[in-house]
Amino acid sequence: MPEKPFEGRFYYIETFGCQQNERDSEIIAGILEDLGFLPSDVFSADIIIFNTCAVRETAEEKIKGKIGALKALKYKNKDLVIGIGGCMTAVEETAEEIYKTFPFVSFVFGTGALEKLPRLIKDAFNGRRTPLGDESGEIPEELPSVRRDPYRADVSVMYGCDNFCTYCIVPYTRGRERSRLPDEILKEVSAAVKGGAKEITLLGQNVNSYGKGLPEKTSFPELLSSVASLEGDFRVRFMTSHPKDASDALFEAMAANPKICKHLHLPVQSGSDRVLKAMNRRYTAAHYISLIKKARALIPDLVVTSDIIVGFPGETEEDFEETLDLLREIRFDSLFTFIYSVRRGTRAATMEGKIDEKTAHARFDRLVALQNAVSRAENEALVGKTLRLLVTGKSETDPAVLAARSEGNRLCHLKADLSLIGKFVNAEIISAKTWSLEASVRP
Ligand code: 5AD
Ligand code: SF4
Repeated sequence: MPEKPFEGRFYYIETFGCQQNERDSEIIAGILEDLGFLPSDVFSADIIIFNTCAVRETAEEKIKGKIGALKALKYKNKDLVIGIGGCMTAVEETAEEIYKTFPFVSFVFGTGALEKLPRLIKDAFNGRRTPLGDESGEIPEELPSVRRDPYRADVSVMYGCDNFCTYCIVPYTRGRERSRLPDEILKEVSAAVKGGAKEITLLGQNVNSYGKGLPEKTSFPELLSSVASLEGDFRVRFMTSHPKDASDALFEAMAANPKICKHLHLPVQSGSDRVLKAMNRRYTAAHYISLIKKARALIPDLVVTSDIIVGFPGETEEDFEETLDLLREIRFDSLFTFIYSVRRGTRAATMEGKIDEKTAHARFDRLVALQNAVSRAENEALVGKTLRLLVTGKSETDPAVLAARSEGNRLCHLKADLSLIGKFVNAEIISAKTWSLEASVRP
């Protein structure tokens, strides 16, 4: 067999959802390029792969619509191969549904089947529509990858999740928690830094429980410190953390090492103890607040961000008010806000007390309005201060300015020379908006 059986052909990948999926798509791209494919737009591609997200129904509906739209391309090009992978197709029923609804889909694969892709692709080009495959769930070591950002590299430290928050589909789509060996992670980070990466993000659904099941016990703070003590001019961040496992040792490691970004993304989900219990989060609002207080005491200028769900089954007006109170007390720098979405197969799906859409939307709007006011005030307080920024490229909204990120991952815009892309700069904040800052490079 020739080394690159698909030389001269083109691929297009579309990724939905979280950073974990983005990272998986880099591996999918690596596999395709190893087979000889080159990247192209969707219209010129010989193979189209969608890497899907199942975390909320809105995401699934949008993706199904986009899969449906591929029919026209398949109609024009009978040889087009279409593969659907990721979290939606990791759920057997959804995979079956996709296979039945969209007969022009050539193959489906779940999140634990990346190493099977070469075979699935070859079968598809040979005209075989492969039956739904089972997942090995193995850690994809040694697989190639094409990184999409030359300056920021995501490195998975673990896969899966064992927490079973009652609303969440992830334990079903990504399986049981598996940690990579520290040496593999350090090797990958070193290679990325040597390749020019200035910012490393350690990825996992719950990085604080890293290390379970490893031959030699290593905790996440230990891993983080080892990564941060590697040579090179780079910084490291991590996501996501779970409050029940966030430890003093984590905050101490963050405080001790200047290469670790002073940014903690710690999803709280709700400010009501009753709702937190129903969500199986295993902490109270008071515990969460005490964690943040401790972290802030140890780490000056810590940026704290979070996720919140409104409209969880049984959430009363009082419960929601408690969430708003928690927001006022913590004053997050920014927040990802979601309306609860029923996920088939999760425990919350059968809970009583469904919140009607109007109430959920009204709560969502109140939550967002409060957070926007806080974000804006926190951003305005930065005016006149100097932050260390990583210049990441041209701004997506205005190519005449550059985009950069602070340690707290705040988006900054600055007018500066293109040669600064991929470099750290010290910049003074000159004005603030709700979601971004304007900065000026200090001479
Ligand atoms: N409905 C709404 N939001 C959800 N999330 C996870 N599952 C659901 C769901 N069923 C949110 C949580 C999580 C973030 C990544 O997505 O806030 O932290
Ligand atoms: Fe889902 Fe909870 Fe695991 Fe996060 S910790 S992935 S919300 S089950």
